[in-house]
Amino acid sequence: LASIEVDVSSLEPGMSLTAKWRGKPIFIRNRTPEEVKAADEVALSDLKDPVARNANLPSDAQATGVDRSAGKDKENWIVMIGSCTHLGCIPLGQAGEYNGWFCPCHGSVYDTAGRIRKGPAPQNLAIPTYSFISDKVIKIG
Ligand code: FES
Repeated sequence: LASIEVDVSSLEPGMSLTAKWRGKPIFIRNRTPEEVKAADEVALSDLKDPVARNANLPSDAQATGVDRSAGKDKENWIVMIGSCTHLGCIPLGQAGEYNGWFCPCHGSVYDTAGRIRKGPAPQNLAIPTYSFISDKVIKIG
């Protein structure tokens, strides 16, 4: 399928789901205010990969908390391809030192914005093309 629509109405803050798109897992998370804040407080200079890797933004957009999210008024939402940028394992959610994602294959640690913080992965988790087509439904692709 070129694109999919995912109903996220059941996701309270702190909850996530994994959809499947083009054979890949897509992580969708409704972040808590604390998780959003933790991501916002990180200085870009502390990031291994300072690029947003967000297909919805220009390729030179920076990996700020908001530019890794669904945008200013939807910053709680994060949508990412669930494939570790090291060798493609599927990271575990709400895990690792930053309580973001943790890849069990070789120990890459991602923060609550899916940005690589430790371990061998070279890039932040990729963000696919997506948009909210209503308050409850996200179209991916
Ligand atoms: Fe994730 Fe190697 S595949 S750390």
